[in-house]
Amino acid sequence: MDIEALKQESEQEIKGVKSLEELEAVRIKYLGRKGLLTNFLKELAGLAEEKRRTQGKLANTAKQLFNELLEQKKTELNQQKEMNEAGSQVDLTLPGRKSWLGHKHPITQVLDEIVEIFVGMGFEEKLGPEIETEWYNYAALNFPEDHPARDQIACFYLDDKYLLRSHTSPVQIRVMEKQKPPVRIIAPGRVFRPDAFDASHAPVFHQVEGLYVDENVSLAELKGTLEMFCRKMFGENVKVRFTPSYFPFTEPSADIAISCVICDGAGCKTCKNTGWLEILGSGMVHPAVLENVGYDSEKYSGYAFGMGVERVAMVKYRIDDIRLFYENDIRFIQQF
Ligand code: PHE
Repeated sequence: MDIEALKQESEQEIKGVKSLEELEAVRIKYLGRKGLLTNFLKELAGLAEEKRRTQGKLANTAKQLFNELLEQKKTELNQQKEMNEAGSQVDLTLPGRKSWLGHKHPITQVLDEIVEIFVGMGFEEKLGPEIETEWYNYAALNFPEDHPARDQIACFYLDDKYLLRSHTSPVQIRVMEKQKPPVRIIAPGRVFRPDAFDASHAPVFHQVEGLYVDENVSLAELKGTLEMFCRKMFGENVKVRFTPSYFPFTEPSADIAISCVICDGAGCKTCKNTGWLEILGSGMVHPAVLENVGYDSEKYSGYAFGMGVERVAMVKYRIDDIRLFYENDIRFIQQF
């Protein structure tokens, strides 16, 4: 047989092969000890030199090509085999799997929203440490030692020197110590209080603190800014009420309430029949606080306010138990 014919015939045969067993048979047929190609190469020895050289070249290329095709076919058949085996375990009728997208916790969402409203009014976001000293949590904020007002904002002590901050007001002090007026900051963060964990109290919760100090800052500005905030947060039609209050670090002080979002002021369980929901503590920064950070209290004045983020979230989304925010029941969390 001539080498061209042998080459074509062997190629054709490999292409037609359907299994690894068949492939092995074809290999033996051509390249086995008595294979057709093997024999052809053996017989070359008896040829005249010139013919041997040309025919030898052709035979070697044919052999090489045959081997390559053999390898290719082998890989192909092996892949097919693997796929068939896996195929029996894959249910192609199953719907595709979607990756689960998480989102921010409702408290983080509300906190971001509060901060964003104030940043839009020119406040700058500042953060402070959660571990504080008595000076920052109390003394610098004009809480006298052994004064009952310290119980109003009680804290967890870590040792003689350190405590977990029980409000974000210490951030006011830290910022004013470093910066001269004008200061206009918003300070969100976690705070800690030794309260029983019930429907309206959590030992760990979040506050947002605001502070504005400059020359001639007035109570009217405090009122205008916080009224604006309440309308942005709770809706244009909400009514805002200021009532006198007490904090050692502000004078005068005011609690701020909005008309109840449930009954619109008529009186219900949520507002304890008052028609109002308290949202914020606020006031004009006490001169003693300004002096504590080295500000001239004759020259500068300011206002400060603080609110509980959980409280704001509960009012905004009509949630009646603060514990829901911490149980992380996915059925609750997913609603936001
Ligand atoms: N720090 C006060 C609290 O935790 C809130 C407050 C802040 C009141 C700033 C007045 C001014 O209750």
